[in-house]
Amino acid sequence: MKMKERNASASSAEKQAAGIAAAKLVEDGMVIGLGTGSTTAFAIAEVGRRVREENLDVLAVVTSYQAEMLAIEAGVPLTSLAEHPVLDLAIDGADQVDAKMNVIKGGGAAHTREKVVANSAIRFIVVADDSKMSEELNHFVPVEVLPYARELVKKQMIELGGVPVMRMASRKDGPVITDNGNVIMDVEFGTIDDPAELYQRLSACVGVVEHGIFLNTDEVYVGRKGGAVEII
Ligand code: 5RP
Repeated sequence: MKMKERNASASSAEKQAAGIAAAKLVEDGMVIGLGTGSTTAFAIAEVGRRVREENLDVLAVVTSYQAEMLAIEAGVPLTSLAEHPVLDLAIDGADQVDAKMNVIKGGGAAHTREKVVANSAIRFIVVADDSKMSEELNHFVPVEVLPYARELVKKQMIELGGVPVMRMASRKDGPVITDNGNVIMDVEFGTIDDPAELYQRLSACVGVVEHGIFLNTDEVYVGRKGGAVEII
């Protein structure tokens, strides 16, 4: 196996350990939120296994078409926020988590619905492999943008000290389009000294649908090398 492949499968084992551990929190009768991405995919598969093999009685709200497809494939019964506006638990991945459990999300362009689900949940659990853990946030911030307002948003991001880059599917296919029909700007802010302040400033920008800073994480399940899971 080449070095790159070995690293990918190692991080995949850590993601799997975190996802499975978080799925054990799901109890009979719960209504849960299911996030998007490769780490949450392991949690969805495990919830599905428990539904099939342990008759776990659960309903789930998904955060993306990707999560919907995985949940249906795994046999997890679905519902909506319109029917169940309060979720007992939500499980989702992260692009970066700092020492105070501030999180950057949106690598999968799903952070708008993920934030709605996280804020509808009584308990919000983040699952991550240990490469996502950092003392401070210094990852770019994904920002979902109303396409009509993209130039105005670009200007506001620069005024905030950011360097915005439109996320492209490919040169041929053009920009990434979210499940909500919007585009994504990945905005580099360097080290984010005050995530709460940047959160408020980004939320106040006209034309921003939602940004990827999350401040309401209750626990982080971190998959460490060797398969152990640390709960923070
Ligand atoms: C999607 C997300 C994902 O949860 C985040 O990008 C982490 O993904 P992965 O578990 O594949 O590393 O925020 O919008």
